[in-house]
Amino acid sequence: SWTTGNVIEEQVARIREQIGEGSAICALSGGVDSAVAAALVQRAIGDRLTCVYVNHGLMRQDESAQIEKAFGESTGGAKLVVVDAEDQFLTALAGVTDPERKRKIIGHEFIRTFEQAQADILRAQGVIEGDHAEATAFLVQGTLYPDVVESGGGEGAANIKSHHNVGGLPEDLSFELVEPLRTLFKDEVRAVGHELGLPDEIVWRQPFPGPGLGIRIIGEVTKERLDILRAADAIARAELTAAGLDRDIWQCPVVLLADVRSVGVQGDHRTYGHPVVLRPVTSDDAMTADWAKVPYEVLSRISTRITNEVREINRVTLDVTSKPPGTIEWE
Ligand code: XMP
Repeated sequence: SWTTGNVIEEQVARIREQIGEGSAICALSGGVDSAVAAALVQRAIGDRLTCVYVNHGLMRQDESAQIEKAFGESTGGAKLVVVDAEDQFLTALAGVTDPERKRKIIGHEFIRTFEQAQADILRAQGVIEGDHAEATAFLVQGTLYPDVVESGGGEGAANIKSHHNVGGLPEDLSFELVEPLRTLFKDEVRAVGHELGLPDEIVWRQPFPGPGLGIRIIGEVTKERLDILRAADAIARAELTAAGLDRDIWQCPVVLLADVRSVGVQGDHRTYGHPVVLRPVTSDDAMTADWAKVPYEVLSRISTRITNEVREINRVTLDVTSKPPGTIEWE
């Protein structure tokens, strides 16, 4: 019968068999899937696993530091390479307002950055050049069963096609995928993560899109706008957490309508600021969603705090649209 213990034992044995004496690389997104996949592989092959986390500058407040810390604590010191690519991503996004172009640019920069890190790691390990030029590089991915079924699902920026050749690497160097979560559903992955000792903040992390806050700013993405949105988002998350609602709601995107301004009044001053949209939803699988009936007093606290503490924002609005016809994210 299915137990998390069985799954862990079985997957660790399979990973050992697949990778043998080889080494592996894993792209961490900060989400539960890639974290659990990495933890399983780490258990199987120890420090022959190197994880790569690309900070694209589109994460929420303190998020990159939290991911780094939680990762170190939970995997007993697996190797982690953090690539700080904020400038590179923001430069590539300058002047871009179309959401699909934003997604393409972010995806493209992600692959480029990850491949560069990967090449550096493989070179350092002697997999490229030298005696081991024939070696296969293993790439760990947190693909879940629904991703396999939906094939073409799993649209995260970290989703890298199998056996693609990598610019700057030898033509014949292919990647063999290691996907220890291929037969599991999300709730099973959370149970495995918990059993492996991953902290709750990773195991119960709500979904967050690969392109991050880049698609929650309606209009051009700039550092200044990201900082405004990060401040508002941090307040909304803190108040929802304080109200004990984290597991009741699927997620609550906060969206900055960066090109919209309206007149307000604060103290005896006229303001001309931006609105943010709160988008709390309930869902089972993100295919459909309902707007979450967050208690008025919680909404009220979020609104008061955001307009008091974030100077550039003078209105807080609530999205009361289901999916369909809306999507969860605004972009
Ligand atoms: P939508 O907006 O399509 O979102 O209703 C459905 C769910 O998917 C998340 N999402 C993404 N997750 N990479 C991801 O890993 C992405 O590019 C991406 N876009 C949307 C979204 O947060 C919601 O949970």
